[in-house]
Amino acid sequence: MAPRLQRQIKVFMLMMVSLCAGAQTSADSTLAVFEQWMARHGRIYMNNLEKAKRYEIFLKSFRFIENFNKEGNRSYRVGLNQFSDLTTEEFKARYTGFQAMSKSSKSSTATTFKYQNATEVQYVSPPESANWVDKGVVGDVKDQGDGCGSCWAFSAVGAVESLLAIKKSVFADLSEQQLVDCDKANKGCKGGRMERAFDYISRHGIAYEKDYPYKNGQGNCNETAASASVTKIDDYYSIPVNERWIERSVSQQPVSVAVDGDSDDFKYYKGGIFSGPCGKKLSHAVLIVGYGRSDSDGKNYWLIKNSWGQQWGEKGYMRLQRSTGTYGGICGIELSASHPYLN
Ligand SMILES: *[C@@H]1O[C@H](CO)[C@@H](O)[C@H](O)[C@H]1NC(C)=O
Ligand SMILES: *[C@@H]1O[C@H](CO)[C@@H](O)[C@H](O)[C@H]1NC(C)=O
Ligand SMILES: *[C@@H]1O[C@H](CO)[C@@H](O)[C@H](O)[C@H]1NC(C)=O
Repeated sequence: MAPRLQRQIKVFMLMMVSLCAGAQTSADSTLAVFEQWMARHGRIYMNNLEKAKRYEIFLKSFRFIENFNKEGNRSYRVGLNQFSDLTTEEFKARYTGFQAMSKSSKSSTATTFKYQNATEVQYVSPPESANWVDKGVVGDVKDQGDGCGSCWAFSAVGAVESLLAIKKSVFADLSEQQLVDCDKANKGCKGGRMERAFDYISRHGIAYEKDYPYKNGQGNCNETAASASVTKIDDYYSIPVNERWIERSVSQQPVSVAVDGDSDDFKYYKGGIFSGPCGKKLSHAVLIVGYGRSDSDGKNYWLIKNSWGQQWGEKGYMRLQRSTGTYGGICGIELSASHPYLN
């Protein structure tokens, strides 16, 4: 604690020197970068001590990004974004929100049988690629905001929006807030799982976004808005841990998945094919909306839609390496895949 405070005071002093005296140090130019970044992202800090603290975190991010891109030997790039003044802990607490299940909760063999028997995707070899964004059935990338671990709701709603668009040829923007406020099997802004959200939607339906808009926080369930829920699904399926099965499913509709999204590499991803390093501690929910192979380097990828706004990654999307040959896939993307079902 003490050394940290000392360091912050040092940074603070340095800032005061450079702010007041205009000293030409190299810290000067990163401070300028920081202040440009603050302006770009509309950051205002309470006082100069808070600013010094945030500047210190920013510097760490800045150096990480600089070193990463200097090495230049990866299949993807990283860059500054709206998360650059947050510690890893703060980032995890505010921007993720997937709840991993205890190991004993589901038998994977039973899941496989249920899946094979119930879905139409069996025994069909998946196509080489799929892209639901190009087909116009994926809604705009949304932003879960800085106050709610609601990624699970965005992933589930995204999957339902696309399924309805595919089946009914009409796109409807649906409500994440209803899930955050009303789905008691999940924990609102404290996290949740997409299967439970699908279960809720199959029983209660889901309202339009405009009738139950997102508010970056959790409140009481608005029964009036929820009872206007027009859209239902029939059921949902958990997909076995298997790349081919997930490809087959994605070739029919977007699929909800969870990933380990806690690393700085993931947080600062800017473009290219993300290849880790990352673990398999599932923390963040996203939506697979396609897969394919990169023309430039021949790497296979999953196309995922995130809920961190359009500034993150490739306009809000990430291409994540596919066919890595490791159990569960990169960042554990194959470990908890599911999709809604509509007759
Ligand atoms: C990239 O280069 C750095 C330093 O030269 C090395 O430590 C790292 O392992 C390399 N990474 C890959 C993915 O090759
Ligand atoms: C799935 O189908 C197989 C073969 O028809 C059958 O043996 C099995 O009991 C079914 N499993 C479930 C969960 O329905
Ligand atoms: C509940 O939703 C209805 C319909 O969208 C809206 O008119 C009303 O203001 C909402 N109530 C609250 C407390 O937000």
